Amino acid sequence: MSQRTLIIVKPDAVKKNAIGQILARFEKEGLRIVAARMVYLSKREAEGFYQVHRERPFFGSLTDFMSSGPCFPVVLEGGEETIPKVRAILGATDPAQADEGTLRKQFATNIERNAVHGSDGPETAATEISYFFRGLEL
Ligand code: CMP
Repeated sequence: MSQRTLIIVKPDAVKKNAIGQILARFEKEGLRIVAARMVYLSKREAEGFYQVHRERPFFGSLTDFMSSGPCFPVVLEGGEETIPKVRAILGATDPAQADEGTLRKQFATNIERNAVHGSDGPETAATEISYFFRGLEL
């Protein structure tokens, strides 16, 4: 069965005017866009999205950043291995560790302002997709 995942073009990449380039890369790699929208998250909404990280020292700063400007969540689909495929295109969370040719190498500033989020597994993907999109939109 074809797997779906959520990516978010984060506020740093939206400010850089890079939504189009990021989506074009996924399309070139054979992924399809199922749903997409621009959202300006409130601090509370950013905290809700990143609940699993609430105990981490970077939680406050991360959720400030994610609510600092519009972001662009997108549902992608691309066969049975969509999630690992998307994560490979993104590269390591920390751009300093990201391989040449990955989106984070190209667009990220640092480990927090890392341009694009991607779900890390099928259960997370399902929860994260439903955080931004209703059934009818999918
Ligand atoms: P993301 O894939 O959106 O998932 C959690 C986010 O937390 C991550 O990308 C980074 O933006 C951020 N993050 C992870 N580790 C750190 C860290 N050590 N310091 C600051 N931010 C981090």
